[in-house]
Amino acid sequence: MTRIRPAIPLILSVSMLFAGTAGAEDASAPKDNITAVRSENGRYYTADDVPTFNIAKDGTVDWMTYSGFRRYHSECHVCHGPEGEGSSYAPALKNSAINLDYYAFLEVVTNGRKKVNTAEHSVMPAFGENANVMCYLDDIYTYLKARGSGTLPRGRPAKKEAKSDAIREAEKSCLGSN
Ligand code: HEC
Repeated sequence: MTRIRPAIPLILSVSMLFAGTAGAEDASAPKDNITAVRSENGRYYTADDVPTFNIAKDGTVDWMTYSGFRRYHSECHVCHGPEGEGSSYAPALKNSAINLDYYAFLEVVTNGRKKVNTAEHSVMPAFGENANVMCYLDDIYTYLKARGSGTLPRGRPAKKEAKSDAIREAEKSCLGSN
């Protein structure tokens, strides 16, 4: 008889476990480096808590993707080409945002990278001191990831989510501290 008793609490705890996951935003979403599984104040994150985009069925993009489109085209496209497509001088960042780890992407932008020798002269500047880049790095990364995943077509996104108060506040304090 003692074999039956523990079965009841076990069933209860298993069903409670499922009730718990059902509360998550999208428990069935794949745990890859692209798919948003949760959002917080207008920002979207993967299962690994890395920033990512969110594009609704009607084409409405999250604020970070929209903002990243603008920031990318003011700070990066001169070398990396329009829409993250790359140029003869610098690589296609829409691919880098997918292939590079988020932290590796940040590291290159912050500290720069050089390949300067007799055969090559390739310089990625360090942007660590540039608030117009550093305060919008997640925006740029998110936009490029949307491009690289094939989800976001070329051109200015027509519809966007509103800018959240939290994003506005973070922007203000980031720019103010520089
Ligand atoms: C002055 C030209 C120039 C500008 C402006 C520039 N980059 Fe670069 N970037 C380069 C070059 C050249 C490389 C390749 C460096 C190398 O050979 O290692 C590069 C490499 C990178 C890489 C590494 C890519 C990979 O797949 O390894 C990242 C990430 C990157 N840039 C991000 C940015 C971002 C974001 C901006 C805008 C804020 C930006 N870059 C602006 C020239 C530039």
